[in-house]
Amino acid sequence: MVQGDPASRHMNPSIPFVRFRYDWLIHPTMLKQAALQPSLAFFPRRPVLSAGSNSAVLPFGNRRRQNGNSNKVRCAAAADESSAAGMEPPTLLTATKRPATVKAVVTVLMTVGGVFAHVGITRGLDDFGDLFGRSLRLELVGATLDPQTESEKKTVSAFAHKTKTGVESITYEATFSVPPNFGEIGAVAVRNEHHEEMFLKDIVLTIDGDDSAPLVFSCRSWLHSKFDDPQDRVFFTSNKSYLPSETPSGLQRLRQRELEILRGDGTGQRKKFERIYDYDVYNDLGNPDSDSALARPVLGGSVAHPYPRRCRTGRPPTHSGISSNTLLHRTLLRDGSLRCFSDPKSEQRSGNVYVPRDESFSAVKQVTFSAKTVRSVMHALLPSLETAMVDARMGFPYFTAIDKLFDEGVALPPHDSMHAFRTIVPRLVKALAAGAQNLLQFEVPEMIDRDKFSWFRDEEFSRQTLAGLNPLSIQLVTEFPFVSKLDPSIYGSPESLITAELIEREIKGIMAFKEALEQKKLFILDYHDLLLPFVHKIRELEDSTLYASRTLFFLTPEGTLRPIAIELTRPASPKKPQWRQVFTPSWDATGAWLWRLAKVHVVAHDAGYHQLVSHWLRTHCCMEPYIIAGNRQLSQMHPIYRLMHPYFRYTMEINALARVYLVNANGIIEQTFAPGKYSLELCSAAYGQQWRFDMEALPADLIRRGMAVEDPEAEHGLRLTIEDYPYAQDGLLIWSAVEQWVADYVGHYYSSPADIAADSELQSWWTEVRTKGHADKQNEPWWPSIDSQDDLVRVLTTIIWVASGHHAAVNFGQYQFGGYFPNRPSTARTNMPVEDASDSDLAKFRAKPEAELLRCFPSKIQATLVMAILDVLSSHAPDEEYLGKEAEAAWEKDPVIHAAFERFNGRLREIEGIIDGRNADSTLMNRCGAGIVPYQLLKPYSEPGVTGMGVPNSISI
Ligand SMILES: [Fe+2]
Repeated sequence: MVQGDPASRHMNPSIPFVRFRYDWLIHPTMLKQAALQPSLAFFPRRPVLSAGSNSAVLPFGNRRRQNGNSNKVRCAAAADESSAAGMEPPTLLTATKRPATVKAVVTVLMTVGGVFAHVGITRGLDDFGDLFGRSLRLELVGATLDPQTESEKKTVSAFAHKTKTGVESITYEATFSVPPNFGEIGAVAVRNEHHEEMFLKDIVLTIDGDDSAPLVFSCRSWLHSKFDDPQDRVFFTSNKSYLPSETPSGLQRLRQRELEILRGDGTGQRKKFERIYDYDVYNDLGNPDSDSALARPVLGGSVAHPYPRRCRTGRPPTHSGISSNTLLHRTLLRDGSLRCFSDPKSEQRSGNVYVPRDESFSAVKQVTFSAKTVRSVMHALLPSLETAMVDARMGFPYFTAIDKLFDEGVALPPHDSMHAFRTIVPRLVKALAAGAQNLLQFEVPEMIDRDKFSWFRDEEFSRQTLAGLNPLSIQLVTEFPFVSKLDPSIYGSPESLITAELIEREIKGIMAFKEALEQKKLFILDYHDLLLPFVHKIRELEDSTLYASRTLFFLTPEGTLRPIAIELTRPASPKKPQWRQVFTPSWDATGAWLWRLAKVHVVAHDAGYHQLVSHWLRTHCCMEPYIIAGNRQLSQMHPIYRLMHPYFRYTMEINALARVYLVNANGIIEQTFAPGKYSLELCSAAYGQQWRFDMEALPADLIRRGMAVEDPEAEHGLRLTIEDYPYAQDGLLIWSAVEQWVADYVGHYYSSPADIAADSELQSWWTEVRTKGHADKQNEPWWPSIDSQDDLVRVLTTIIWVASGHHAAVNFGQYQFGGYFPNRPSTARTNMPVEDASDSDLAKFRAKPEAELLRCFPSKIQATLVMAILDVLSSHAPDEEYLGKEAEAAWEKDPVIHAAFERFNGRLREIEGIIDGRNADSTLMNRCGAGIVPYQLLKPYSEPGVTGMGVPNSISI
């Protein structure tokens, strides 16, 4: 142990320390619904969460700050605990006249790839360093400036020595002699003298043997080796969070420096140990260096292909420049040879994609589950499957052949990694008794287990638009007749063939068309204008076809939806005229089979839209800019950074994996979904046409789709157009609970709009989200500004909702609904038999329509690829972090925040019970009935594995 190794630091002007304020007050009149702009600013009334509290926290749309002290109702969190607990959380202060003894206990977690994990040439050196106690050097940093010199105080440093080696962690300890009047300790700088990185869990300081009020530094962070980067790593105390203006004087320079490190300078190729967060366009999806057919356009940065930004990795450009928007990359030289130029707009691909070190979860125990499983399945299992099924186009000859996937499985060729598969994905890969052969055998999805034929029926088809995997597309019909907004000179007649007469005929005397429209009984899945421009391109791909589609539903008196018409359209082309036809449920054999085939096309459209837009784009992809900007602009001591961090965890890593295996050229999505190589271009088109931040808030999304209207008398301030709409009903419970938690938290740290405006880091974060992360939409008028507590609560609630509830609703039911692929085929491969059909085609269809249906379904290999990947993506890791379950260290250190979090936790447990109650209510026919899988996707908690429930904090799979 070495003591007394002070190092001087530079001077910095002192800014007076401002303490927390707990006087954020709310006027009772704020309980009333504020008249807000209907489209964007709707935020419903929130229920009082804690029984016995008379201090209802108000919906942020209704909250206004009251000047003066009369009639004040305190923030629920602040009112209850601040006075009892004292205004200051405990801090470690050495204000004695004699030196104080400070003890530091450092906990390092065992990891797969860290310093204690492997035997290598450096391991001996590191053990040697540990033996002599010189492998971890800590430096205590004073929170305040020296009052005499107004410069930073001299730090106090010591080496830590290893004291305990446990199964999961190793403990180091250091003792410091801290000079008199050192004051508060605000940060610890740590240097890792090992040759390998280590994963730091936390550092706990106590003074003079008193461990009643320790100073905690919750790290959960990779500590790089000094041989990779000589710069020390700084951790700020978790005991307190500071707005920029409140930063203790002695920490101001460090706060700035840390942010500068995290931002980097925008140059160079990123190294694994770095923590730099920066932006780039999606220019690494293609792989033209391996095959010119794998060139893909750059997404983001152009009018043609708008897209959110991803994390910059700085990999070198590709050599074959045809992958990008630049046109000429090869030049014919005088000697006749072609010279290749690198393409500055397109990036080479690599297996291990850089993500900032602390975004990577791949080496921490347990949380490795998701990444390991995803990697294993994508890297080796799927190629094995391709080997086992030689004919890529072969479909299933009979329905019984589909059943065999579950009963008998698919024999896989021997592979070195099979043993690992059986360990990691036991649900999928099973060993035969002899042990030599492996089987890919699927579990029967719950919906098929309950009702084998439910997928075939109309009522299940329409029920799943409200309680299935993609409940985000169904919308109220507000305008009729349907008219395309696309150019008729290119695409043909814009008017739909669905007429009022046709609708009346299908409603069959229940009510007149006009009445149905006025009484909000007509709903639509509209995949017309988004898909139509892609139809011809996709039809040129091998083994694929596409239509644009409109599917119309009627809301029955029972509150369920009945599909009444499907319109499929092929636009005009130079060779052929426009082709359109409306299909309806029929009572003749040919009509009934055509209706079934039309449904296959619509479900394939919905499955593609779900995966590319509702899931990948709106959750995974759009979240990344918030995370990048948050780390670049919000200090790790900023309260909003500390609020949002658990909702950002692991997302960048899973997105990097998706770019390698899922959404890349010839990746799983392109191989299995109808749009093929145009999949991500379609995704970009949806981003350009449909995505807006303000509409990502659940209430605003429901209102936009006509699925709800504002109603101050209704629960959550919203009246649902279809009362029994399980996604909306349960989603609003989660939304409101999150909103209350965020309002409590924000109210604790900001007492006025002026505080919000003055928060330079917060404002920089939000500006950067818009101007850099979503740069292609930066000039859109709908971006909210953050001028008040209400604005901030609205923005943060929206982001947390997308990461938690929205993602859970579209992610964890993927196997449940897609595991039996006829229920959600990823592609429909053949045209309708009546499109430009020859007599022989029609005769073939009439002779055996079931064969036509099987030919239309995905091929055998497409179906099994999708089923395998959906099984993995639907799975919860053993140590999944669920919404509102565990408090962050910084939240626990503040009694007011801790109490608010406890209320959040309590409310989520209540919600579990409410959802169970709804699923048992036989009047709610869209979630309770014969053979129906109850709607549990928004139940907050779950066991590990594929359960069809559970709302994690963040997007990690
Ligand atoms: Fe996901």
